[in-house]
Amino acid sequence: MVTSELSNHQNNNSPMMAKPHRNKTSSVFLSDGSLFLGGAFSALILVWGFSSFTTTIPKETPNFESLTKNDAVPHHGTPDFNFDPPDRTFYDDPQMGYTMDKKVRNWDEKREEWLKLHPSFAAGARERVFMVTGSQPKPCRNPIGDHLLLRFFKNKVDYCRLHGCDVFYNNALLDPKMFAYWAKYPVVRAAMVAHPEAEWIWWVDSDALFTDMEFKLPLERYREHNLVVHGWAHLIHEKRSWTGLNAGVFLIRNCQWSLDFMEAWASMGPQTPNYEKWGQTLRSTFKDKFFPESDDQTGLAYLIAIEKDKWADRIYLESEYYFEGYWEEILGTFQNITEKYNEMEKGVSRLRRRHAEKVSETYGEMREEYLKDAGNGKGSWRRPFITHFTGCQPCSGKYNAMYSADDCWNGMQKALNFADNQVMRKFGYMRPDLLDNAISPVPFDYPRSLRH
Ligand SMILES: *[C@@H]1O[C@H](CO)[C@@H](O)[C@H](O)[C@H]1NC(C)=O
Repeated sequence: MVTSELSNHQNNNSPMMAKPHRNKTSSVFLSDGSLFLGGAFSALILVWGFSSFTTTIPKETPNFESLTKNDAVPHHGTPDFNFDPPDRTFYDDPQMGYTMDKKVRNWDEKREEWLKLHPSFAAGARERVFMVTGSQPKPCRNPIGDHLLLRFFKNKVDYCRLHGCDVFYNNALLDPKMFAYWAKYPVVRAAMVAHPEAEWIWWVDSDALFTDMEFKLPLERYREHNLVVHGWAHLIHEKRSWTGLNAGVFLIRNCQWSLDFMEAWASMGPQTPNYEKWGQTLRSTFKDKFFPESDDQTGLAYLIAIEKDKWADRIYLESEYYFEGYWEEILGTFQNITEKYNEMEKGVSRLRRRHAEKVSETYGEMREEYLKDAGNGKGSWRRPFITHFTGCQPCSGKYNAMYSADDCWNGMQKALNFADNQVMRKFGYMRPDLLDNAISPVPFDYPRSLRH
């Protein structure tokens, strides 16, 4: 079984590039305990499996009368949570399932049909993002692990409140055989079916956090794509490096292509009889992969590199900004970034103006004008969008031996406070020192009021 020590950091030569990296267990669903739970889960699945056999198939035809009635429902762009017409949808099909082994066909049509029946959700459906994250079913072994996970989750809740996305935290191992980093796929799959109103499912590892609360996903850029990951094409295609991308954060479109793709992807997982064989294949294709188990990240790199014609044109490798970034590269930049932002705000009164949290997005957009020269990604003084604590293992506490405990724990505290300051400021408080949790009220006209 893959242990938390597995991690890889590769230096690449181009100074323009953020360092690709990978956390092998992503601190999600660590192997401890997952096999034990497995028994109970399979028993439950067996029971559910039987009960679905005894269900009779309802022979309802779509109710056109109510369909026309729905069309008459006035809709003001506000989702109506209180309206679910009796018309038959994919939810009424007993063959439809949330689990990975239940094949879904014509998903795009089914989603569209659902949206037609729920017109209040149709507006804005193309941009709707549903965030999914999670951690293991058991308490963390690291004594401060659960506290850290809480703060990492709070950060995601904050980001979503500011930008209007829904967030789902899962801490059940949905398919006991799909442990460690494979555990996220059944969750993403279930989220797609549970949320037909969402165009995108955004997986964010539990040990990743938003360190720019203003930045918004450039969804327009991904119009023609169905999967977005942080990655570099030449590292995958030419260097055949398994760290040419990072699978800890990804954006996947809620569509049939994605269901088919996840099926191909998950076919390399531990729940299949080909798991060992895939481990060998992946290792012989990506020579820098140093552990024998088949893993989702190398699996994704394989599908991009080897099954290129089938998938690659719908996969967007984002490297222009920190779609997710390596914490070691990012931590040292917080000080200068804070100073740059303070300087910017001292010069522009509308940027330092106090405002209601609800209207924060407009201030983020305003700031763009002053970030034109900031750059993006490595070497930039723009706040890094997502910082990923690859290899620090906040929950198990078994951080990679290449780091020190202080690097990891202080690093997380610093990053969490750096992010939280952006949130707390709208509530009138900030932590002056990122390594100290002491908080103070923010004076009027901050940061102009700062003495130097
Ligand atoms: C921060 O800014 C100072 C002064 O401009 C510079 O010398 C230093 O290299 C910067 N540090 C980082 C980590 O970028």
